[in-house]
Amino acid sequence: MHRSELSDYLAERRADVDRMLHSYLPGPKCEPPLIHEAMRYSLFAGGKRIRPILCLAACESVGGRRDLVLPFAAAIELIHTYSLVHDDLPAMDDDEYRRGKLSSHKMFGESTAILTGDALLTAAFTMLAEKGLASTISPKKILRVTLELGAASGSTGMVGGQLNDIEAQGQNDISLESLKRMHTHKTGVLIRASIRIGGILGGAGPRKLSQLTAFGEKVGLAFQIVDDVLDVEGEAKNLGKSVGRDHSRGRATYPALMGLSLAKKEAVVLIEDALAGIKSFGPEADPIRHIAAFIIDREK
Ligand code: IPE
Ligand code: IPE
Ligand code: MG
Ligand code: MG
Ligand code: MG
Repeated sequence: MHRSELSDYLAERRADVDRMLHSYLPGPKCEPPLIHEAMRYSLFAGGKRIRPILCLAACESVGGRRDLVLPFAAAIELIHTYSLVHDDLPAMDDDEYRRGKLSSHKMFGESTAILTGDALLTAAFTMLAEKGLASTISPKKILRVTLELGAASGSTGMVGGQLNDIEAQGQNDISLESLKRMHTHKTGVLIRASIRIGGILGGAGPRKLSQLTAFGEKVGLAFQIVDDVLDVEGEAKNLGKSVGRDHSRGRATYPALMGLSLAKKEAVVLIEDALAGIKSFGPEADPIRHIAAFIIDREK
């Protein structure tokens, strides 16, 4: 696969993930209609689907079957979307726009947005179990990836990182070590888990899985650094969310700690390191390589 083919690849995978989610979720008329409408509103607002796509690409990189992994990849997007709905709430980042539309609480009110997040989070695990029961993948592997996803999303993973982020607000003497830890938890671990889940379900042996894990860790951290950079120099109309919010709210970010140019350099070095760690993978890893490179070039 050539780098120039990446945008078609991403569009195809995005469509696969969206079809899977459309067919799985209760329809917008299912009782109570408001919650199902709100779930679909945030989910189909136009996210990049980078986590499920990384999961699928990780599966391919170890020679696994993408079609078998698709429902589990899609479940990851439910968790991610829940995290965005809650992240935007007034008590968290208080953001009015998400994925180019009004954020969930602006559209449906705060109580519905809280419940929408709860419902998306719950649906992720229901989906894993339901699709797992119907799958030819072994129950033990399904349990293993369920554990991966739960651990990455909860208090010792993403939720913990989100708490650290709130605590660090306005604290201008945060160390690089704490900042790195916070970014790794709030964003990195779910990205790492997406890649590991693809590897595990794709049949990776211990060596390849540990190489993918190290890759995922670096890509995950770089992803949040670039998110911070885009909050400084990105465009709201590309990003589909407001810019300059981190600075105005005194958030702890890489650009705030080390300046824009060092922050960008840090992301580039992380991606170079990540790529070096999977050098021994064959051409079947080209998609995941190109996605990693895209993470530092992205405009949204
Ligand atoms: C935004 O994630 C929040 C972070 C964890 C940095 P994405 O940049 O993947 O957002 P969508 O899914 O494309 O909207
Ligand atoms: C979000 O980080 C991390 C999550 C777990 C949702 P940000 O708060 O920087 O994400 P954006 O910029 O609102 O998308
Ligand atoms: Mg936040
Ligand atoms: Mg936010
Ligand atoms: Mg951000």
